[in-house]
Amino acid sequence: MRFASVAYALGSVCAITAAASTQGLYDLIERRLPGHAQDFAFDLNETLQRNETSRQNDHYTITAASNGSISISGNSVSALATGLRRYLVDIAHVDVYWFIGSRLDQASPTLPRPNSTITGASIVPWRYFFNTVTFSYTTPFWSWSDWETELDWLALHGVNLPLAWVGFEKILLDAFQEVNLTTSQILPFFSGPAFQAWNRFGNTQGSWGGDLPLQWIDQQFELQQRILSRMLELGMTPILPAFTGFVPRALVDVHPNATVVNGSQWEDFPSEYTNTTFLEPSDPLFSEVQRIVLNKQLDYYGNITLFYTLDQYNENDPFSGDLDYLRNVTHGTWQSLKSANPGAVWVMQGWLFTSNADFWTNERIEAYLSGVEEDQDMLVLDLFSESQPQWQRTDSYYGKPWIWNQLHDYGGNQGLYGQIDNVTSNPIEALANSSSLVGFGLTPEGQEGNEIMYSLLLDQAWSSTPIDTASYFQTWVHTRYTGRNNSIPEGLYTAWELLRTSAYNNTNLTSNAVSKAIFELAPNITHMTNRTGHHPTTINYDSSVVVDAWKEMYNAATVEPGLWDNAAYTHDFVDVTRQVYSDAFAFAYTALIAAWNSSTNSSTTFQAHADKLILLLRTLDPLLSTLPQFNLASWVSSARSLAPNSTNSSVIADFYEYNARNQITLWGPSGEINDYASKSWGGLVGDYYLSRWLVFLEYIGSVTPSDYKDEVIRERVKGVEDGFQAAGSGLGIRESTGDVRGVVESAVVPALREAGVL
Ligand SMILES: *[C@@H]1O[C@H](CO)[C@@H](O)[C@H](O)[C@H]1NC(C)=O
Ligand SMILES: *[C@@H]1O[C@H](CO)[C@@H](O)[C@H](O)[C@H]1NC(C)=O
Ligand SMILES: *[C@@H]1O[C@H](CO)[C@@H](O)[C@H](O)[C@H]1NC(C)=O
Ligand SMILES: *[C@@H]1O[C@H](CO)[C@@H](O)[C@H](O)[C@H]1NC(C)=O
Ligand SMILES: *[C@@H]1O[C@H](CO)[C@@H](O)[C@H](O)[C@H]1NC(C)=O
Ligand SMILES: *[C@@H]1O[C@H](CO)[C@@H](O)[C@H](O)[C@H]1NC(C)=O
Ligand SMILES: *[C@@H]1O[C@H](CO)[C@@H](O)[C@H](O)[C@H]1NC(C)=O
Ligand SMILES: *[C@@H]1O[C@H](CO)[C@@H](O)[C@H](O)[C@H]1NC(C)=O
Ligand SMILES: *[C@@H]1O[C@H](CO)[C@@H](O)[C@H](O)[C@H]1NC(C)=O
Ligand SMILES: *[C@@H]1O[C@H](CO)[C@@H](O)[C@H](O)[C@H]1NC(C)=O
Ligand SMILES: *[C@@H]1O[C@H](CO)[C@@H](O)[C@H](O)[C@H]1NC(C)=O
Ligand SMILES: *[C@@H]1O[C@H](CO)[C@@H](O)[C@H](O)[C@H]1NC(C)=O
Repeated sequence: MRFASVAYALGSVCAITAAASTQGLYDLIERRLPGHAQDFAFDLNETLQRNETSRQNDHYTITAASNGSISISGNSVSALATGLRRYLVDIAHVDVYWFIGSRLDQASPTLPRPNSTITGASIVPWRYFFNTVTFSYTTPFWSWSDWETELDWLALHGVNLPLAWVGFEKILLDAFQEVNLTTSQILPFFSGPAFQAWNRFGNTQGSWGGDLPLQWIDQQFELQQRILSRMLELGMTPILPAFTGFVPRALVDVHPNATVVNGSQWEDFPSEYTNTTFLEPSDPLFSEVQRIVLNKQLDYYGNITLFYTLDQYNENDPFSGDLDYLRNVTHGTWQSLKSANPGAVWVMQGWLFTSNADFWTNERIEAYLSGVEEDQDMLVLDLFSESQPQWQRTDSYYGKPWIWNQLHDYGGNQGLYGQIDNVTSNPIEALANSSSLVGFGLTPEGQEGNEIMYSLLLDQAWSSTPIDTASYFQTWVHTRYTGRNNSIPEGLYTAWELLRTSAYNNTNLTSNAVSKAIFELAPNITHMTNRTGHHPTTINYDSSVVVDAWKEMYNAATVEPGLWDNAAYTHDFVDVTRQVYSDAFAFAYTALIAAWNSSTNSSTTFQAHADKLILLLRTLDPLLSTLPQFNLASWVSSARSLAPNSTNSSVIADFYEYNARNQITLWGPSGEINDYASKSWGGLVGDYYLSRWLVFLEYIGSVTPSDYKDEVIRERVKGVEDGFQAAGSGLGIRESTGDVRGVVESAVVPALREAGVL
């Protein structure tokens, strides 16, 4: 089979990176289950061969050893880590989760031993994780402790190929300096802490609200060193960045003969912040910078990987659509990588073929990909496989190895959402139909919830038939809510079964990613509900079923009050409540607009509708604020905490805070992609969204449809938006009390009754 050689070539990369040591796994257990490392015996035997024919690259075996320990053997650290999670989930009924963190401490103090031998084998060699933009939507202000949890999560879920973007600006700064640009010529090129992903893509250049401080660059570089060494300890092969060709404008002052072109405009940004200068890969200076970038990383991090992420046209159009030109670009780029590191594999996000499909005809895709003359030197991420797969139309990327990815989420939107059938069936079908498919992965823009959908795909990488989601959800409930101080009432299983067959079973691909609440959008008399595309607001399920799930969850805590102290339960209950509010608000809004447009509208009727909208936002805000993971204050304070403790720290801290606020609201100096990364967070709902709705409701309550003037609303709403940007206003900053039960009983239940939801 042709496939076998592809898998082998990529698979062999592991050999240079996998720390042939199980110490990282014992350390993980000590971090999460102190005192229990001696309960486990990991046995790594890399000569237990990969079966290249069946693509079963990693495998593990779990047994109760005769000496009493829980023995896990396998042929890679990643296989052992996956085996460890299998034990934790299926036998000890505990796991590590996003937002909630590790719940391993909830396991029985005497860890149960498996009664029989359990085995597992991956059906693909690679399990990939991250989208370049996840580093800006989710992780930009993460501390090392946040990263530790994330990396434990990745390892336990069998991820062995994660992106590693943190701190790349240090490498670029060094490289540009080495080709004789000065620091003051380079710094204005970088975008702010919350916008680095788009600068790395060449979509944006420069920073609004202040330049990126050197302090940020240094501190992120230190963080990257810790991240990389932990990835290696946990058996992962990091994918490092490479030079794309995007350069500071000043490059041509220093190198007047350099062949550069002016990149395209991104979104509605003024050219000051976009139209990024692109150094043509055919120019010798390109290879020179590439060599420096790769060598710097080799010097700083060691010889740890052959994989490099490199995207030149992600939402940018090439300078020319000429086939020869496109082929030359990849050919020059590929040559630059190979001359800097002969074993380099170029990892590319295939998003452009979806997002700029008009430009990227099959002919152009083929020309662009053909510049990389050795198929195995490239790895393409089919970025949105569950909704807009491109591998069929490109005949599996004309032979390049590729990965099937679930994207799922835009901008960290938070609605409950999944395509449960597609995510379990389609990758298995793809495996049968594409010989160059070498992995499954996750490419969310933001990591903001619906964790079960992400676990599901990574677990699918270890099952050759589509996973039975009914039993998967049952196991999920059992493990997730296991607590030392609570039982797990039947209602919780019922609730998740209701969610599985409603919100998690979207089959209408007109709207194909997580939806957001309409109250997060700038208010309008039209175009709010049923939006598709990049600000989706469709409700793709019977919302009464989600209300039923909510009731089951709520009643479960009546049966078992210990759940109020269970962090997994309170997180999920707040999340499902958020969805109930989101749907209720959309219906109440539709009724309000209908009343306003009706000839029989009266101010009393109108006000009753308006009061309902206001009540919903006023009571949702304190509920969200109770938990840090749903509270704006956490995002803002984590941004500020990365500023140094020096005399001008408040200037830097204010700049970081401005970045944090701007991304989730205006997204750009003047609302270029307003509300794209909106969030249902405590503080933001009460001091931002509600404020916008109040000015809107006040205005439309005072005019008839025929007197309505759009620009009046826009002006007033803009006032609220602009007023929220600056640091130090304290707007939206609330304390998290943790008292979910108190707010539910005193505010949420009465409000949902009054709104007619209950
Ligand atoms: C590793 O596995 C191979 C193949 O099964 C076996 O021959 C060898 O003895 C094992 N090595 C160790 C150290 O267990
Ligand atoms: C590898 O997998 C194939 C397909 O499942 C199977 O037929 C073959 O026996 C396996 N080879 C080994 C050495 O296990
Ligand atoms: C192992 O078997 C015993 C006896 O049948 C049972 O009580 C126990 O729950 C089992 N343990 C696990 C982890 O399945
Ligand atoms: C940078 O400047 C030095 C000293 O003028 C020169 O030797 C070197 O060639 C320059 N490097 C590049 C890439 O132009
Ligand atoms: C730029 O190119 C011109 C014409 O080929 C040449 O005379 C000049 O020396 C070059 N300048 C630099 C800085 O390389
Ligand atoms: C920016 O790029 C767009 C094409 O995307 C082009 O129309 C525009 O002229 C460019 N602006 C500048 C200043 O180069
Ligand atoms: C990195 O390791 C690989 C595999 O061992 C080796 O082929 C390559 O030469 C090394 N690169 C450097 C720069 O040491
Ligand atoms: C592509 O590269 C070849 C070889 O360097 C060159 O002859 C040709 O002019 C280039 N074509 C374009 C459109 O840049
Ligand atoms: C999802 O919905 C489709 C279409 O209504 C249905 O055929 C399928 O059985 C549902 N799947 C689940 C898991 O509920
Ligand atoms: C996903 O499933 C739906 C039906 O549930 C189907 O219409 C759609 O074509 C599938 N999407 C893909 C990309 O296979
Ligand atoms: C799919 O969703 C779109 C957008 O909400 C809607 O217009 C269409 O009627 C839906 N199709 C089905 C079959 O429900
Ligand atoms: C409302 O939406 C329409 C259509 O998208 C748009 O033209 C209008 O400017 C919007 N009004 C406000 C106040 O944002």
